[in-house]
Amino acid sequence: MVKSIAVAGKGGTGKTTIAALLVLHLCEKNKGPVLAVDADPDANLGTMLGIEVRQTLGELREDVLEAIKDFPPGMSKANYVEAGLHQIIEEAKGFDLLTMGRGEGSGCYCYLNSLVRKFTEELFPSYKWIVMDNEAGLEHISRRTTYNIDALLVVVNDNPISINTARSIKKIILDLKNEIKKEFIVTNMVNNERKQDVLKNIQELDMEYLGDMPFDTGLNKAVFQGKPLSVLNNSPTKYFIKQIIDKIGGKNGDS
Ligand SMILES: Nc1ncnc2c1ncn2[C@@H]1O[C@H](COP(=O)(O)OP(=O)(O)OP(=O)(O)O)[C@@H](O)[C@H]1O
Ligand SMILES: [Mg+2]
Repeated sequence: MVKSIAVAGKGGTGKTTIAALLVLHLCEKNKGPVLAVDADPDANLGTMLGIEVRQTLGELREDVLEAIKDFPPGMSKANYVEAGLHQIIEEAKGFDLLTMGRGEGSGCYCYLNSLVRKFTEELFPSYKWIVMDNEAGLEHISRRTTYNIDALLVVVNDNPISINTARSIKKIILDLKNEIKKEFIVTNMVNNERKQDVLKNIQELDMEYLGDMPFDTGLNKAVFQGKPLSVLNNSPTKYFIKQIIDKIGGKNGDS
């Protein structure tokens, strides 16, 4: 059964970092095939995974809209979209990457969106794990442009505003009813002397707490140098990610 994890939270809390580390961990442990989905319009999951993205889904959508204007009668739009979708999935060692890109322009997208949704839904079951990085907020999830989510990781840091964001996310989750199976809180880079206060503040959110990802100088340096996170060896963040998968993965995540 497919296991899907989505990472959400306030801007800059470490969503992309966590999503990339999850993908790399699952590949390292041969838990693949993994599909990494970058659902942030300001896409940078590819960079952290060391993948150059040639085309996003948003760009493909615009291209298709242009191309189908000149389609001869009888030529299948669905086949054209499907072929394009296969092309924009970047294949790497142990995982594939789908980058959503920017949202819609002013054209008429309804037909196209339903095709995209159909093809992604057909595509997703061929993966054992799906890891989705989101933009700050929950745009894709609340617009239901994504597949059902088994585990939603909400990332919080020691900025109290990140707790407000987590609270808003919780509200959206309640509105979505069963589309998100379980939500969890993760703290990242919390200063030692603030830890008690942060832990107290997240209690009211009523989400299971998975622990605190420590600040990792090696990771920080790798990102600064534009290197993919696969260069990290025994980093404390990698150990933290292993623990997350052990906690939420069930049988699928046994390592
Ligand atoms: N545990 C950590 N140790 C060291 N640096 C970290 C850690 N977590 C995140 N960072 C750094 O913090 C910065 C922000 O992280 P990241 O890009 O993952 O956040 P984000 O929530 O995805 O941001 P955005 O909302 O802009 O997409 C990055 O430079 C990243 O390298
Ligand atoms: Mg990000």
